[in-house]
Amino acid sequence: MIYTCNACGAQLNKWAGQCPECEAWNTMVEVVQSAAAKSPRFAGYAGDSPHLGVQDLATITPDDVARIPTGVGEFDRVLGGGMVAGSVVLIGGDPGIGKSTLLLQTLATLGMRFPTLYVSGEESPQQISLRAHRLKLPLEGVRLLPETRVEGIIEVVLRERPQVLVVDSIQTIYTEQLQSAPGSVAQVRESAAQLVRFAKQTGTALFIVGHVTKDGQLAGPRVLEHMVDTVLYFEGDSGSRYRVIRAFKNRFGAVNELGVFAMTELGLREVSNPSAIFLSRHEQQVSGSAIMVTVEGSRPLLVEVQALVDESHLGNPRRVTVGLEHNRLAMLLAVLHRHGGIATHDQDVFVNVVGGVRVTETGADLAVLLAVLSSLRNRPLPQGLVVFGEVGLAGEIRPVPNGQDRLKEAAKHGFQLAIVPAANLAKQRYDGLEVIGVNRLEQALAHVTG
Ligand code: TYD
Ligand code: MG
Repeated sequence: MIYTCNACGAQLNKWAGQCPECEAWNTMVEVVQSAAAKSPRFAGYAGDSPHLGVQDLATITPDDVARIPTGVGEFDRVLGGGMVAGSVVLIGGDPGIGKSTLLLQTLATLGMRFPTLYVSGEESPQQISLRAHRLKLPLEGVRLLPETRVEGIIEVVLRERPQVLVVDSIQTIYTEQLQSAPGSVAQVRESAAQLVRFAKQTGTALFIVGHVTKDGQLAGPRVLEHMVDTVLYFEGDSGSRYRVIRAFKNRFGAVNELGVFAMTELGLREVSNPSAIFLSRHEQQVSGSAIMVTVEGSRPLLVEVQALVDESHLGNPRRVTVGLEHNRLAMLLAVLHRHGGIATHDQDVFVNVVGGVRVTETGADLAVLLAVLSSLRNRPLPQGLVVFGEVGLAGEIRPVPNGQDRLKEAAKHGFQLAIVPAANLAKQRYDGLEVIGVNRLEQALAHVTG
């Protein structure tokens, strides 16, 4: 048995808690020694068949990758237009968020059109059947295998020859080549490697389900992410009805594309026009709330950013964000102080994006600062106001991509006033929407306090 350090690559023949080479802790994992690891041979380097396997890129036609639509539109959207034969998709998310349900539904939709196989290492066939009946899924054509040994899975799959294979979840799968427990980094990595190799060689579309560790990483410190073609992540509040699937990596499509679903008694239902679902409609304007238009993937979404600013009794006041990048808040508050003259150094600041969505773009900056200001002053922002824009360190308001799409979406949903970067000002007019362009943070603040 060989152990190697995940951090520096050192090899040992016994396990150690600390790597003797780089002194990192808990980085030693078991590895399988493959025949290929023997010393390479360069015989014939100078002479025989130097072109073996090498092709001229110019002669290769990019004939579109063959896609199999899953039949679930929102899922196809995040996948980049459907499943690709021989591609491997990792689906991550918290336990209970709907990963198994989505895949079972997908296989049910594929039904008789393609041979499929659902490998479950987590739930018994009875449990899966119970859920499928509760969700009233058509089950013709869905084949099921309860198995956790990767060699066993591959043996069956070679016989069944499914075109679509689901393995739920990778943390329960183990290979007999390693002695460590299922779920350990070494097992997750090696089992996944065997499945990936199988999928590539046979042209099977493979979906691997992975649970997320507490710190938000796919277990096995991201070891899976670079082995697969596509990484999809389930997001959503456990309290909210909506589930969002986001592509983090996609060799066959755009990243940051979102698929939006609503959880129902009958499973996940697609929300194909999600632009306003994350807005909480208040009877009256409340302080600390700003509405922004974000563009995630190819669609504009209206989301509410909430802030709570409260007197702090801590030497180091709290800066907490949910659904936004944490470091960015500290930076924005510094800009607000320096260029807006508004101090928050003695205040705790909490910022939240409603509905459990994550906003990953800088277009949220202006909404964050206006929500903070509104909470600090305890004064609601004007009725029907929508904002977007990036705030720079010099207090300048920078343009964001897709400005026109955002304004159009805001007008469509009946917003009356938009404060946006001057460079994003509409060339066209939108009915009922007054658009104010600003170059500086001070101007934006003046419009809402003035
Ligand atoms: P499940 O798919 O098992 O979550 P995961 O595989 O990510 O751990 O879903 C958890 C439970 O929620 C399951 O009992 C089914 C139920 N559920 C619904 O009733 N409707 C839905 O739309 C979804 C997504 C789940
Ligand atoms: Mg599950």
